[in-house]
Amino acid sequence: MNLPNLKDARVRGKHKPEVKREDYVIPEAVGNIGKNKKYCILTYGCQMNVHDSENIAAIMEDMKYIQTDDMQDADIIIINTCAIRENAHNKVMGNLGRIKHLKEKKDIITIFCGCMAQEEGISRSLSSKYKWIDIIMGTHNIHKLPIYLEKIIKNKKQEVNVYSIEGDVYEGIPVKRDSKYKAWVNIMYGCDKVCTYCIVPYTRGKQRSRLLEDILKEVEDLVREGYKEVTLLGQNVNAYGKDLALGYDMADLLESVSKTGISRIRFITSHPWDFTDKMIEVIAKYDNIMPYIHLPIQSGSDRILKHMNRRYTKEEYITLFNKIKEMIPNVSISTDIIVGFPNETDEDFHETLDIVNLLKFDLAYTFIYSPREGTPASKIKDTISLDTKKKRLAELNKLVNKYALLNNQKYKNKMVEVLIEAPSDKNGKYMGYTDTMKLVNVDCDSKYLGKIVKVKIESIKTWSMDGVVVNDK
Ligand code: SAH
Ligand code: SF4
Ligand code: F3S
Repeated sequence: MNLPNLKDARVRGKHKPEVKREDYVIPEAVGNIGKNKKYCILTYGCQMNVHDSENIAAIMEDMKYIQTDDMQDADIIIINTCAIRENAHNKVMGNLGRIKHLKEKKDIITIFCGCMAQEEGISRSLSSKYKWIDIIMGTHNIHKLPIYLEKIIKNKKQEVNVYSIEGDVYEGIPVKRDSKYKAWVNIMYGCDKVCTYCIVPYTRGKQRSRLLEDILKEVEDLVREGYKEVTLLGQNVNAYGKDLALGYDMADLLESVSKTGISRIRFITSHPWDFTDKMIEVIAKYDNIMPYIHLPIQSGSDRILKHMNRRYTKEEYITLFNKIKEMIPNVSISTDIIVGFPNETDEDFHETLDIVNLLKFDLAYTFIYSPREGTPASKIKDTISLDTKKKRLAELNKLVNKYALLNNQKYKNKMVEVLIEAPSDKNGKYMGYTDTMKLVNVDCDSKYLGKIVKVKIESIKTWSMDGVVVNDK
């Protein structure tokens, strides 16, 4: 049994990440195990977690399972978890009861994976109190799922494999993409920033970048398959390449991906620390790199930023923000903000409100600080009540929404380009995003699905806009 260990997960040692190309194998015994059987994946986390689920789906289908969205109908249930905040935990734990109940009625296999599995306390309690979960595996070893499946079928004993390792880069893991038009492409794994509140460096390991040629090959294949958009994924994308020391960085990667000819390139998440001028120049220069940047600020107070170990000051963030706005025409910028970091004073909080008033973000994802076991911030004694934090969040959200609407209003009666993705739940319309990542519900025909079309914006809301197709590109 391999359980994670927070102390080991914290270490950034001498391990040099390797690129492993032959590690995904399906043992003969499980090659056809899924014939006439169904799997269901429940996904709780960020885009990286969603993309992991796309890998898991392909692995299941390599063993002949068929996908179902209905848990009741499944022979195997995979719970792909997130550990970022307490409420992510609670959602998963709340669902475990229902899954156990299903398992009592029917002979199903249950798999618990993702970032929660990487938490020492969680894995320990799952392996002692949740014996009915068949496989517990971490974020480093998804590709070994068939091997674990073979083992539990043979041994009929809970299989726990969660490694606290710094991590390697695995190529050649299959993927079953949810969309035919938009694709997630990992460019790096893990994170070395170690913000004091954040669990990710412990659940995902050390920063390790994929080789440029492997990323390019994936994007070139996607272009050939007709994909219109790629989103380059990493916890800290602009630090791309730093760990490789092969002489290329995020700006070079963006430029190379741009030259594949894919229609749209996005990338998340950027950390203000590694955002270089060269990167801004490349984004400004190439039309297929979308003018949208998600740039988490977390707080407007230098005192709190320091305690968070964010490595920039408010002034540095403002300078970067203004430079991006100046150099990339029409750019939109969104952010993440945490309220109620331990001992955040009213003054600190007002500095956050001030910076929102100053920068007028297109969108901000706002969170109440949630202590995560094992992180440095979780050890700080906090004097601020939850009630105060909730009030601050509500006040912040009011402001954030005001600017979201104000920014959207600039689009009224304008022409924009939208990649039509899917039917929207708004009475017969189709949904898609502008280059600047504005959600648009478009009055159009299904023939436009998967196309980038010119849309005239007719009405504006805080979170979306409505428009009509003018003509296709
Ligand atoms: N790598 C990305 C963010 C990953 S987590 C980055 O550095 O920007 C996404 C967001 O969740 C973070 O930006 C932060 O705002 C929020 N978050 C992370 N840990 C949190 C915690 N313990 N409590 C509340 N919010 C948190
Ligand atoms: Fe977490 Fe900070 Fe790394 Fe983002 S940069 S994943 S917030 S440690
Ligand atoms: Fe959650 Fe792990 Fe992503 S903690 S936000 S699923 S990296």
